[in-house]
Amino acid sequence: MEISFSLNDAPITVKVPPHLRLSALLRDLGHQQGARGCRDGSCGRCLIFMDDRLMHSCLLMAFEVRSTQIHSAKYWQERRIMRYFLWAQAMQRLFFCEGCRDARLLSLVYLLERDDAPVEMTACASMVQCTCVSQHDVARIFRLAYRLKVHDAG
Ligand code: FES
Repeated sequence: MEISFSLNDAPITVKVPPHLRLSALLRDLGHQQGARGCRDGSCGRCLIFMDDRLMHSCLLMAFEVRSTQIHSAKYWQERRIMRYFLWAQAMQRLFFCEGCRDARLLSLVYLLERDDAPVEMTACASMVQCTCVSQHDVARIFRLAYRLKVHDAG
């Protein structure tokens, strides 16, 4: 079947088989890097934004994105938030691995767009399950990224 949707603000039309997961489609389109995840919704490595909601792309079928707006990590890699993400890691001397980096960026985007970001820090830091950086240190990186953003805005 043929589906059309918006991917990082660009219109896209592709043919997909009915059993194809969105995570597989995005990987084929070069929009999800890193190691393959659990495909059952538990590791968080396949996070994407669908109509501004953070979703696990492994739990969605490709045809379900018809007429939606999808934003992958690539979209934010070219935006200011990427600086906070990179600076906070460098300042803490802690770096996310290739397998979780994109999903960590998306969970930080989700966090920084919330009004209650300071109280949701720990919850957002645990959205992605990866052992490259401890959950405690992920929260430290996110806290610093938040402070950098607030400082930048002021
Ligand atoms: S691959 Fe989707 S949550 Fe793990």
